[in-house]
Amino acid sequence: MLAENKSYQRSVENFRQVFSTEPEIVTFAPGRVNLIGEHTDYNEGFVLPIAVDIFLCVAAKPRNDRIVRVVAADLNDSDEFSLDQILRDEEANWRNYHRGVAWAIQQNGIELKGIDAVVASDIPMGAGLSSSAAIEVGFALTFLHFVNADVPRPTLAQWCQLAEHKFAGVQCGIMDQMIALLGKSNHALLLDCRDLSHQLVPLPKGIAFVVADTGVPRTLAASEYNIRRQQCEEAVQWLSKLLERSIKSLRDVTLEELAQVFNDIPDPIRRRARHVITENNRVWSFQQAMREGALRRAGALLLASHASLRDDYEVSCRELDAMVQALTSVNGVFGARLTGAGFGGACLAMVHEGAIEQVFEEVPRKYKAILGNGSPEPKIFAVHASEGATVQKLID
Ligand code: GLA
Repeated sequence: MLAENKSYQRSVENFRQVFSTEPEIVTFAPGRVNLIGEHTDYNEGFVLPIAVDIFLCVAAKPRNDRIVRVVAADLNDSDEFSLDQILRDEEANWRNYHRGVAWAIQQNGIELKGIDAVVASDIPMGAGLSSSAAIEVGFALTFLHFVNADVPRPTLAQWCQLAEHKFAGVQCGIMDQMIALLGKSNHALLLDCRDLSHQLVPLPKGIAFVVADTGVPRTLAASEYNIRRQQCEEAVQWLSKLLERSIKSLRDVTLEELAQVFNDIPDPIRRRARHVITENNRVWSFQQAMREGALRRAGALLLASHASLRDDYEVSCRELDAMVQALTSVNGVFGARLTGAGFGGACLAMVHEGAIEQVFEEVPRKYKAILGNGSPEPKIFAVHASEGATVQKLID
């Protein structure tokens, strides 16, 4: 079934053309949608993402030397470097993901072999579906396959995160790499980002998840993201001082405690803290609602999450707000919110299965009507909770 995938076909065909031979493996790495728990992962909090059935594929074959050649089928670009000297590339940022991953693995004591590889992706870039974690995870499993190294997936997620910090320059949390490696079909992953313990939450029957891409690229995402991270660290300092105890992260503070000292913390730091603390609570309430099939309650939590991201965390934008408004105006939509880092990208909606067609039909029109002239072109599609990344052997 995976072989019917478009990125699979592009990666394999392109590999044959470029390297005039067959690839030995194709690694599939999924995109992800976070159901709830946004900007909580780097505060050692809770998240509830699903891996989705949209993939990035890496077709690859090992080499007998220490050279890595990577062709990006969709970008018409390529890269070549030696595993003995892995440096950041200042020209084309896409190269920093596989380079960073090779660096991080070797940094942890595993000597890699050179590879020839072609990467092709159906995960839209900049939509907030984490194409970056998919490329990291896709290459990590590819590199490790050819040296027969078996690394526990949570550890590998941390190495991929390190690659993103050091090579791509985004101080991301651990959610995206964990879900890309540990996703399960028909389930969400409830992840504790402090100790990486996790459990699967079965998704109720009769609902569908819809991704509504606003068509606005996440231009400010990297710099604003890093600023939010710093503000959370500042919030921790204020709270430690005012509550007179040592606090490691916002995870350690209750809403009642925040309320006691809220007026003594400067704005916007106190609102950033309020978002993270209330969002952690919403993750727990949401997963409980999903287990009980309480869909209206779950939908209301999605809307509350969006409001908090918009007003307290300030990572929404006009188009994301318009999309949530358009989505929730359709009958059969339980709730919607921005998903991923924000500043553009996509919204997630939880929808009654029978209402999907209506959502596809009505939402683009409503979205454009709210935004008026010059509205960006939205893209709306359904996603299904799917398995985490896998390596498929084509040749034994
Ligand atoms: C990006 C990061 C994640 C997470 C989300 C916001 O996707 O990569 O680690 O912080 O933003 O929830």
